[in-house]
Amino acid sequence: MSLEFPLYRALNGSDTLYRIDGLRHFVEWQPLGKSRWLVHEHVAEIYPSQVLVQSLIQAEDAQVKLSREEWNSRRLKREEPEQEHTVGTIAKTAADPAIQEGIDLASWTTFGISAHAAHWISARSDDDVRFALSWRQERNSALLVMGGGSNMLMHADWEGLALHVGIRGVRVLKDEDGRIEVVVGAGENWHDWVMYAMKNGWHGLENLALIPGQVGASPMQNIGAYGVELKDRFLWLEAIHVQTGSLKRFDATACEFGYRESIFKSSEKGQWIIVRVAFSLEENAPLQTGYGAIQQELKALPEQSWTHSDVAKAVMHIRSTKLPDPKELGNAGSFFKNPVLSSDEFKPLQTAHPQVAHYPQSDGSFKVAAGWLIEQAGWKGKHRGTHGVHVNQALVLVHYGGATGADIWQLAEDIMHDVRLKYGVQLEPEVNQIGRH
Ligand code: EPU
Repeated sequence: MSLEFPLYRALNGSDTLYRIDGLRHFVEWQPLGKSRWLVHEHVAEIYPSQVLVQSLIQAEDAQVKLSREEWNSRRLKREEPEQEHTVGTIAKTAADPAIQEGIDLASWTTFGISAHAAHWISARSDDDVRFALSWRQERNSALLVMGGGSNMLMHADWEGLALHVGIRGVRVLKDEDGRIEVVVGAGENWHDWVMYAMKNGWHGLENLALIPGQVGASPMQNIGAYGVELKDRFLWLEAIHVQTGSLKRFDATACEFGYRESIFKSSEKGQWIIVRVAFSLEENAPLQTGYGAIQQELKALPEQSWTHSDVAKAVMHIRSTKLPDPKELGNAGSFFKNPVLSSDEFKPLQTAHPQVAHYPQSDGSFKVAAGWLIEQAGWKGKHRGTHGVHVNQALVLVHYGGATGADIWQLAEDIMHDVRLKYGVQLEPEVNQIGRH
């Protein structure tokens, strides 16, 4: 058993090399002078280019098929072009990634619950991801894909391979008339990326400051806060298929974004590893200040003077007062989703509890604040020794130290049961439950 992609080709009678990453993706290495390469990435979006990829795959006309080793040795005869920027400071290394054994995932997840992965690898490139995928295919081992570990609760040790996506890099695709298109490696830290974009004057993500996790996880659940969702600034993402190794580009429509939802959580769950995400930003992006708490924060400043940086600071201030910092107190942000009720379901709830915090939706349904329900049911600040409900935000479950995933889940189940009993509303976890039996 082996991955179908990438495939390696050369142009007959010339030094030109190709690597085919998927049905619509190939990279061309063209010789430049005696010692350099000119590298072109192609995404076959239109039919004639797709035909070209097909002919490269079949190596029909002028191309020859090469093994990975032969292709690599031809490539190494010339220098590589310079590497792109990274938001942070981790240096790239050329060595193959190492598979490690028996790694405790506590420090790789924001809940900080101890659970061991039988095997673990951090992938810094598409090649590393494919290496890990082949490795686990050969051993038939289960795969756990990890970003910043900010949205998962481990219920047990992981008997298979945990693959941490550590692909870095930021590359500007287009910078014209104040509109910027930029592609970011899935392994960049989300908040660092938001700050980096701000520093460069690329605006539109300010309201999403301080959300924990990595860039690659952001489309999975279409992260959102204070009136902005990822999908508002999303251009496309590229992902590698876990079975075939093929690379595919998904635009916003293909991602089927919804409230904390995407195709990667539903019909395509477990099928893809997101390796990079492209954003569409603007120098003069409109400020998103509609959210009450932001207005409250900004009211000390005259409205004409509000800047993107003021909005980011306001968001960071609100978040740091309401939400616990995972570096200090284990948590995974909102543990539950805000339930969406039909008008028929919502009306009796509102009649019985006129104060219920809610947001009418454009389709006539109502999103109810789960935090309100949980607080009213008496759970806010509840302490069970090793874990509990956060004192400032009832939606967040916290880990004080020494709890297991099962302990936290028991608390979640007790809350869900109680809220169902008192309000007739079924809550659902927003956080992914890993290894729950
Ligand atoms: N509320 C309470 N008690 C609480 C918490 C909230 O009564 O303990 C009430 C508030 O009074 C308010 C309403 O619930 O009327 C909404 O609360 P808040 O504005 O704090 O937002 P949220 O609905 O609790 C959502 C997201 C957060 C995001 C904020 C800000 C979900 C599940 N959560 O929380 O996302 O930061 O809005 O936009 O949609 C996350 O996903 O990890 C996360 C933190």
